[in-house]
Amino acid sequence: MNILLTGGAGFIASHTCVELLEAGHQVVVVDNYVNSQPESLRRVEEITGCKIKSYEADVCDKDAMNRIFDENTFDAVIHFAGLKAVGESVSIPLRYYRNNLDSTLTLCEVMAEHGCKRLVFSSSATVYGEPEEVPLREDMFCKGCTNPYGWTKYMIEKILQDLVVADPEWSVVLLRYFNPIGAHESGRIGEDPSGIPNNLMPYITEVAVGKLDHLTVYGDDYDTHDGTGVRDYIHVVDLAKGHVAACNYAAKTTGCEIINLGTGTGYSVLDIVHAFVRVNHVNVPYVVGPRRPGDVDACFADPAKAQKLLGWRAEKTLEDMCRDSWRWQSSNPNGYEK
Ligand code: UD1
Repeated sequence: MNILLTGGAGFIASHTCVELLEAGHQVVVVDNYVNSQPESLRRVEEITGCKIKSYEADVCDKDAMNRIFDENTFDAVIHFAGLKAVGESVSIPLRYYRNNLDSTLTLCEVMAEHGCKRLVFSSSATVYGEPEEVPLREDMFCKGCTNPYGWTKYMIEKILQDLVVADPEWSVVLLRYFNPIGAHESGRIGEDPSGIPNNLMPYITEVAVGKLDHLTVYGDDYDTHDGTGVRDYIHVVDLAKGHVAACNYAAKTTGCEIINLGTGTGYSVLDIVHAFVRVNHVNVPYVVGPRRPGDVDACFADPAKAQKLLGWRAEKTLEDMCRDSWRWQSSNPNGYEK
């Protein structure tokens, strides 16, 4: 298949490029590089030996998107593009709603006008809000999100579900990611957050490499086995393979499916810190601080639907995730060297 990746230079997307190319697909990327570097695509080319056609454009720019669709014929689109910083979304909500909703609406209009009606969307487990019970199943009621970023994902899911009702020729897969960490085992591509990382693993790797002094563990009085928050960490390469499976699934069906991409296993913050130290033989000093607003005790997936519909399940271990995150950070201490 010839597949367009919006936001194709980002962390999850660049790993998905590698897996798609290695599975024999062609990829085209559109990215405005607001939160990514073209260097990641150069490195995907280096890993795979394949050339990637890329466009520097904003998905909200309808003229630019029309040109891209006029110049290419796509079998499917994976829509990664979007703003994704939870804290920032609270301070500048209009920018988040404008960007994430507008880009999706523009993309779907252009796709429909060009007769391309297969779409895989990057959603998030954040749409479950505060879980009433775990593991989380796709058919559970989503009570609401704790921040504007999460609401953009929630709203886009709804828009795409409505689109499929109105036009049954569409095939849409909504992938709800849990907590992606790790990096490609080559150490050439990985997560490159701008500024001080918000998420746990990039924070740990920056402490380990000496860029940050220590980790603050946000709360040790949660209702979990050691009191620290439990999440479903998934290796980004497993997640990327889930996208290949989702494209194959979208090619043989119509309708809309919501699918969790997680491992089904929850690890606590301290499980992650201890595994990282053990596997990589490095120090990660930490202090316990107060809870972070909006955080929940435990969040992990029921991954059965992905196994059933996509024939996919996560295969990598926590040790793989810790080792690969560290290989990337230690060999690229300044990420893609902006
Ligand atoms: C967060 C977002 C979620 C988003 C996801 C993307 C919030 C409330 N949720 O999920 O919407 O889809 O990132 O990856 O921000 N932790 C620390 N110290 C740190 C950083 C994190 O103790 O410096 C803890 C957190 O309290 C949590 C766990 O580590 O228990 C994971 O945090 P994080 O990596 O930020 O992911 P989520 O909060 O699960």
